[in-house]
Amino acid sequence: MAMEERASWASKIGMILATAGAAVGLGNLLRFPVQASQHGGGAFMIPYFFFLLIMGIPLMWLEWTIGRMGGKYGHGTTPGIFSLLWKHPLSRYLGVLGLVIPLILAMYYLYVCSWTLAFALFSLKGSYYGLNDLKSMASFLHSYQGIGNGYFTSILPAYLFFLVTLATNFLIMYRGLAKGIERLSKLAMPALFLIAILLMVRALTLGTPDPTHPERNALNGLGFLWNPHFSELRNASTWLAAAGQIFFTLSLGLGTIQCYASYLRENDDVVLSGLTVTSLNETAEVIFGGSIAIPAAVAFFGINAISKGGAFDLAFLSTPLVLAHIPLGRLWGFLWFLLLFFAGLTSSVSIIQPFVSFLIDELKVPWKRAVIITAFIVFIPAHLIVFWLKYGFLDELDFWIGTVSLPLLGTIEVILFAWVYGIDKGFEEMHKGALLKVPSFFKSILKYVTPACLIGLFIIWMGQDGINIFLMKGVPEAARPYRWVARGLIGSAFIFCSWLVNRAWRKANET
Ligand code: ALA
Repeated sequence: MAMEERASWASKIGMILATAGAAVGLGNLLRFPVQASQHGGGAFMIPYFFFLLIMGIPLMWLEWTIGRMGGKYGHGTTPGIFSLLWKHPLSRYLGVLGLVIPLILAMYYLYVCSWTLAFALFSLKGSYYGLNDLKSMASFLHSYQGIGNGYFTSILPAYLFFLVTLATNFLIMYRGLAKGIERLSKLAMPALFLIAILLMVRALTLGTPDPTHPERNALNGLGFLWNPHFSELRNASTWLAAAGQIFFTLSLGLGTIQCYASYLRENDDVVLSGLTVTSLNETAEVIFGGSIAIPAAVAFFGINAISKGGAFDLAFLSTPLVLAHIPLGRLWGFLWFLLLFFAGLTSSVSIIQPFVSFLIDELKVPWKRAVIITAFIVFIPAHLIVFWLKYGFLDELDFWIGTVSLPLLGTIEVILFAWVYGIDKGFEEMHKGALLKVPSFFKSILKYVTPACLIGLFIIWMGQDGINIFLMKGVPEAARPYRWVARGLIGSAFIFCSWLVNRAWRKANET
């Protein structure tokens, strides 16, 4: 059988938009405002920018560099990339984490993304119109998710929207890197920025909708988010939350940036590209993420009503309710969910890509077949997420994957790059074809500061919450077996991916 030539990006702008699309996602528009407002508002931005500087930007450069280097040798995923950095069999098994994380994340990210598609249509149809408070909106959402009774009598609509979202993702990927993912990003990313600007202007000009409550206005929403509560800085969880947000929002420690960068050419600039993607993502996060959902919610419901809610409350409860009550409400609501859907879609394809690339690069499966195999591997276990949502199945996966594993993979790769491969050699590799020179103090940051901070954060986290979370303190007795199944799923993914890695390397040695 003739080998397929390795895919490549068709244009530089397409590659930048695809990688920015990977980074800009639900994390920017949903997770960021909630994390910031729950951890000291403006004060949160101090650790946030600190970690952006000492972890976000350097790790972004690192991942682009090792990705491009891997691509040169035909490896788009961390098992192969790590074995270039460290010529020891253990390196490829450390890289298994870079397959497990995106595989499990894809399962639940797709499901959450499917809610945004469903709600875009519910908004156009006016399905939740006439609901006036957060409680009735919550009952609408929960009945959709199969958690409670209400507007929907079964979980079938949620399941169907999940199937549509899953099929959309895999059809785009089936078309290939340039014709599928790159084309999607060229359309979706400009549309996303345009819709976000429209919604931001609309949210900030909501004024004071209820004159009897003059304190409820959009500007107080900005104040809620940005006024610094410095006492929060003494709390280790604020620092952990800021570090976690940097990883999540920039898609670091996830396996996707390395994978997208592996499709670069040998001398494509990674320094400027990494910086451009980081800047686009931070604009979407700090400006759009902070200026739509929270100001709108505070203008209508006041600070108290929203301060205790989570990420989904803002996105699926308060924002649609607010938009339903302004002129052209159906259209605004549709645009809000379309914005989330575009953000989610360009990220979800990037999250699925590493596993597809692994099958192609290491097991020599042709592109289209690799996409179909991955679709099945994601689809079957995803049923547990859909049907066991009420038992916290998704939360359990998100905690171990979204919160713990991303910084873990980040720690492994920074140690391999700076200490094992060698920071000087690494910097030389980074600067191939680069227009800009990375200031040399970043060498010390990558070698000492980033790993020390990451290891320190893990130790603090273990001391503060880790053990209790592992023992499921506070989790209702009835939900515990389901949560153990979630952990079992992650464990099985590890065994399965390690087996695949073992098989791939054995096969490579035979030929
Ligand atoms: N970086 C992606 C997001 O923010 C995963 O959602």
